[in-house]
Amino acid sequence: MATVKSFSHSRREYASAGPRPNRYSNQQAKPGSDISDAFSSLAGAPILELPQRYSELKKELVPGLRDQEVLLKNWNEVLDCLKHTNARIKEQGGKIIPRLLFSDIENGRIDPDILEQVRSVGTVIVKGAVTKEQALGWKESIKRYAADNRDRARGFPKDDPQVWEFYHSRPQVSARTHPAILKTQAFLLTQWRADADAEISLGNPISYFDRLRIRFPGDMTFALGPHIDGGSVERWEDNKAYRKCFSRILSPNWKSHDAFDATHRIEAKMDIYAGPSACNVFRPWQGWVSMSSTSANEGTLQVYPNTLLSTAYLILRAFFSPIRTASEFGGNKNGYLAAENWALDLESTAFPGSVPGRAQELSDETHPHLELTETMTSVPPVDPGDQVYWHCDTIHAVESQHRGKGDSSVMYIPAVPVTVNNAEYLAAQRASFITGYRPYDFSSVEGEIGFIGRGSLQDINEGSLSRRAYGLEKFEALGNGNGEANAIEKANEWLFGPHSL
Ligand SMILES: [Fe+2]
Repeated sequence: MATVKSFSHSRREYASAGPRPNRYSNQQAKPGSDISDAFSSLAGAPILELPQRYSELKKELVPGLRDQEVLLKNWNEVLDCLKHTNARIKEQGGKIIPRLLFSDIENGRIDPDILEQVRSVGTVIVKGAVTKEQALGWKESIKRYAADNRDRARGFPKDDPQVWEFYHSRPQVSARTHPAILKTQAFLLTQWRADADAEISLGNPISYFDRLRIRFPGDMTFALGPHIDGGSVERWEDNKAYRKCFSRILSPNWKSHDAFDATHRIEAKMDIYAGPSACNVFRPWQGWVSMSSTSANEGTLQVYPNTLLSTAYLILRAFFSPIRTASEFGGNKNGYLAAENWALDLESTAFPGSVPGRAQELSDETHPHLELTETMTSVPPVDPGDQVYWHCDTIHAVESQHRGKGDSSVMYIPAVPVTVNNAEYLAAQRASFITGYRPYDFSSVEGEIGFIGRGSLQDINEGSLSRRAYGLEKFEALGNGNGEANAIEKANEWLFGPHSL
C-alpha cells in the first residue's frame, strides 16, 4: 500500500509554497469540455486564413536562394519516395506494423531488425504484458464506475459517452502502474537518444493521465480523422526548440532527420496558443492498452506507417502550392500530384491542416501526396491486454466506423520519460490524483471529486517503478551522463523539495 504523508496538505498550502509556482497547478477551468475541442474537424470549427506573419515565417525559414533550391530538391525527392512507399503500404496493409512479445523485451531478446522496423514504421504492438483476464476485469470495473457516477460522469458524445472524462478510476491507476506496462515503456523510451547534456532520463517512465474509450458497435460519432498531436503551427513557429527537431528536413540531407532524437523536444513549445486539450508534457510514444478483441473496421487505430517520410512531407508541404488545382485536373489525380505541378510558394500564409490552438490535421485535400484514404493503415487485430504505441510524430486516426460486434475499448496510456517539465507536470498531476480534480491538460471542469469508487493510493501497484510513475518515490539516475543527473535532481526537487505541491 502506498502512503505519502505530505499529501494531506490543503490546496491553499500548496499554492503558497515555492519561489515559482507550479505552472500546472492552476485549477482554473480551461476552455472546452471534451475530446472534440482538441480537433477543429470534431468541433466543427471553420478553417480561418492565417495572418500575414505566417508568410514572413516561411521566408525566415528559407531566407536565401540556396535554401530555396535545397527545399525544392528535398520536396521532389520526398514526392518520389512517397510514390514507392505508398504503394508498399497499400500492398502490405497491417502486416507492416511490427509486434513484440513482452517476454522478449524482458529477456533482452529483441531482434535488431525488428527494432529497426519499429523505428521506421513508428508504431508497435506489444503482446503479453497484461493478461486478458486482467484487461477485461478493468473494463468491467470502468463500466461499474460509469454506472455508479452516471449523474456526474462526462464524455463524448454528451448524450451517450464513449470517450469518458475519467482520469482517476481504479483500473486506470492499476494499469498505469502495472510493472510490465512500465517496463515496456522504459524499453520503448530508451529507443530514443539525447545529447549528453540534455536534461532527460529516458529509462524512467512516468504516468500521464489521459482518457479512455469504450466504443460501441455501429458508432460513427467518434470519427477522429488523420492528425498529429503536439500542436500544429508550433512545429515551424517555435524558434527556440520545436523547430529544431525538424531542421534537418530543410537541410541538404533531409534523410538524416532523426525522429528519435529527444534533445530539442525537451524544451519544445507545442502549445503556443494554449489550445484546449493540448498535451503539456513531452510524450515520445502515445499509446493505449486494449480492453477488447478488436480487428480492422472495428473502430481501431489507424496510422501512416512511415515516420520519416510523413514528417518530411508535412514540414515541406507548407512551402509548396499546386500550380493548377485538383478540380482543374478533373479526375487526373496523377497530373495534380506530379512534381511539375507544385511550386515553391513563400507568399501564401497557409499551413495546410494547421489551426493555431488545435492538433495538426491532415487529409487528401491538405496533404494529397500521402494518399491517406488508401494509406492510413489499421493496426492488426489486438486482444485484451495488448499495448499499442505510436511515435509522437505519427499521423494517426480512429476508424470512422465501428462495424464490429463487440465494443472497441482502450485506456490511453502513453510512454513518458522524466524531464524537468514533465516532473513539474507530474507533481501537479499527483495533487489532482489526491484531490480527484481533473488533470491540468483536460477541461472536464468538475473532475471526479466525490465520485464513488475513485482510485486512491491503495490502487497503486507495489514497487519503485510503479510508485515513481505516480511521483510517489524519488527517481534515481541511470548513469547516462550529466544531463540525466541534472534532470533527476530537478525532477526530485519538483516532487519532493521544500516547495513541492
Ligand atoms: Fe491523437
